[in-house]
Amino acid sequence: MKILVIGAGNMGLTYAQAMSKSKSLKKRNIMILDSSEEKQERLNKISYFDVFDKLEDCVPGADLIFVAVKPHHSKGLFKDMAGLTSQGQVIISIMAGVTIEFIKNATGLQKVVRAMPNLPAQVGKGLTSYIASPEVSRIERLTIEDLLNTTGKSILVSKEKYIDASTGISGSGPAYVFYFMQSMMEAALQMGFSANDSKVLVSQTFAGAIELFNQSDLTPDRWMDKVASKGGTTRAALDSMDDNNLNELIKEAAFAAFNRAVELGEAHA
Ligand SMILES: NC(=O)c1ccc[n+]([C@@H]2O[C@H](COP(=O)([O-])OP(=O)(O)OC[C@H]3O[C@@H](n4cnc5c(N)ncnc54)[C@H](OP(=O)(O)O)[C@@H]3O)[C@@H](O)[C@H]2O)c1
Repeated sequence: MKILVIGAGNMGLTYAQAMSKSKSLKKRNIMILDSSEEKQERLNKISYFDVFDKLEDCVPGADLIFVAVKPHHSKGLFKDMAGLTSQGQVIISIMAGVTIEFIKNATGLQKVVRAMPNLPAQVGKGLTSYIASPEVSRIERLTIEDLLNTTGKSILVSKEKYIDASTGISGSGPAYVFYFMQSMMEAALQMGFSANDSKVLVSQTFAGAIELFNQSDLTPDRWMDKVASKGGTTRAALDSMDDNNLNELIKEAAFAAFNRAVELGEAHA
């Protein structure tokens, strides 16, 4: 199987590198194309990729076309791909907001997978939600799932709207965690800790809490009850968050990202 990755930015390169380690692929079966000359030069130094600068040299030979350019580049790219594709090919897009219907109409390809990754894919801890058009066979879907899982975990969603919804949770979510971390580090600095100690205090607290959560069946609510006792320090913090309606504000923020993903989709339709 030959895979072509179009767009060697943050995400495209992350997936290309992760997929190149997949057991289901033989060596030198990942082709990569980027419009930037500087990126092509850098990619040429990575021995396990075949690097291309022209669509006509790589699109026809690909079984699977993995599109990782920015959503606003999709129209131009798909126009340039016209006449180079063939019906057996599967196209996977990780572009936020770009719908399966748009991809089918713009490329003429029927086998379309739409996926939403997140940044921790760079360290093998990503979460990719995905959905496949009915024309993608079960075997093809499972092969693609294996490839997506080289960057972490994946979930198959039942409706395309959940791809936009997962943008609001897992796609944009790492930034919410960083937001929380930043606030806690600023509080630690204000309390008088050094920058380094603030970083260690916060990062180890997040890592420890996640580990506890992952190793049990308890909900976050139950964990909060375990940490907070009546009249204690943690309860004071949680009460302050509740008084400021933080729970609602976080949900509002997640929906803002979800709505923006839908808007982006409409803009590219
Ligand atoms: N980053 C994330 O956390 C994240 C999360 C979920 C989804 N996504 C999605 O992933 C996609 C890629 O994001 P990214 O952050 O990796 O973007 P990026 O770093 O900007 O990478 C895109 C690359 O594609 C190149 N490119 C643009 N048009 C091209 C074309 N016609 N043919 C070949 N290459 C082309 C760009 O070159 P130039 O720089 O020269 O334009 C750039 O090197 C986006 O659609 C985004 O919605 C990203």
